[in-house]
Amino acid sequence: MQLYILGIESSCDDTSAAVIADDVILSNITASQDIHALFGGVVPELASRAHQQNIIPVIHTALQKANISKNKLSAVAYTRGPGLLGSLLVGASFAKAFAMGLNIPLIEVNHLQAHILAHFIRGAEKSNSVPVFPFLCLTVSGGHTQIVVVKDYFDMQIIGQTIDDAAGETFDKAAKIMGLPYPGGPLVDKLAATGNPDRFSFSKPNVPALDFSFSGLKTSFLYFLRDRLKENEHFIDQNKADLCASIQKTILDILLSKLEKAAMETGIREIAIAGGVSANSGLRSRLEALRHDKGWNVFIPPLAYTTDNAAMIAVTGYFKYLNKDFANQSDAPYARSRF
Ligand code: KG4
Ligand code: ZN
Repeated sequence: MQLYILGIESSCDDTSAAVIADDVILSNITASQDIHALFGGVVPELASRAHQQNIIPVIHTALQKANISKNKLSAVAYTRGPGLLGSLLVGASFAKAFAMGLNIPLIEVNHLQAHILAHFIRGAEKSNSVPVFPFLCLTVSGGHTQIVVVKDYFDMQIIGQTIDDAAGETFDKAAKIMGLPYPGGPLVDKLAATGNPDRFSFSKPNVPALDFSFSGLKTSFLYFLRDRLKENEHFIDQNKADLCASIQKTILDILLSKLEKAAMETGIREIAIAGGVSANSGLRSRLEALRHDKGWNVFIPPLAYTTDNAAMIAVTGYFKYLNKDFANQSDAPYARSRF
C-alpha cells in the first residue's frame, strides 16, 4: 500500500506544506515572509501571525499540486521543534486538528533530523543516490551548526556543535554589518562570487575537539570595518565583493576544517551537508573538490531541500510511519534542540 504523507513546516519564517507518496515527492510549497527584511531579522510575533495567514492556502496548494484529495492522506507530519514557539504552535495546531478531523495518525518531527533526512527524498524518476549509513552530516542553518554521525534514520549522534553563534547567523550578521538586508546569507554568497577571498583575513577560533565558535569572527569583522570606516566612509561600498568573499571563505574554512577532522577521527567517508547554509555555492564547490581530494562520497542536497521546507518533514514522517512511531495530540512543541 502506498503511503501519502502531508508534511507541515512552520518553525521559523517559512510556512511550508508538502505531499509525499512513500519517499517520492509530489509537491513542496513554501510561502516566505518578506516582512522581516524591514526589521533586519525574524520578529517572532509577526512570524506567527503570517503563519496563520499562510497555512491554509499553502496546504491547499500542496494538496492541489500533488493532485490528491485530503481523504487519501495516510498521516500528517509536522515540525514539533526546535524553533520559535509561536511559529511552531501554528503548524502543530493545524496538524493536530487536521489529523483528528481525518482520523489519521499524527507524526511529530524534529526539524534538525528532517534537514538530514532530506537526503532521502526521491524525485519521480527515483534516480538520485542516497547516503549509506553510517554517514557524517554537517548541518548548517540559521540556528544550528552541528556535525552528526547518522547511524540510521533515527539513530543520530551529535559529535560537534557551535558553542555560540550558528554559521547561518554569522552570514546574516556579517551581511547586516555591511548594510545588506535580511537574510544576508544568500546575498553574501552572490557578491562573494565576484570577490577576492584572500583580500582580507579575519580571526579564526581555537575551539577544542569538533566544536565550533563564530562569535569571535563576528566581532573581528565588526571591529575591522569600524576601523576602516574611520579612514574611508565608503570602504564597505568600494570593497563589498571582496569583503563578502573573505568572510565567506573564513566561515567555510572553520566549517570544513572540523568536518575533515571528524571524517579522519571517525573513518567515515560518506559525507553530507544539510540546512540553509548548504545552499551556499562556495560550500558546495569546496565539498565537490574534497570529493576528489579525499575520496569522499559527497551528498549535497538539491537547493529546494536546503532552506526550510516541508518536503523534509514529509519524508521524515514517512520513515516514522514505517516504524509506527506516531505522536499524541497532547505533545507540546519545543523551542530548543533535542534528539
Ligand atoms: O535551514 P534554514 O532555512 O533555517 C533554519 O533552520 O535556521 O537556514 C536559514 C539560514 C539563514 O541564516 C540564511 O542566511 C542561510 O541559511 N542561507 C545561506 C544561503 N542560503 C541560506 N547562507 C549562505 N549562503 C547561502 N546561499
Ligand atoms: Zn532549518
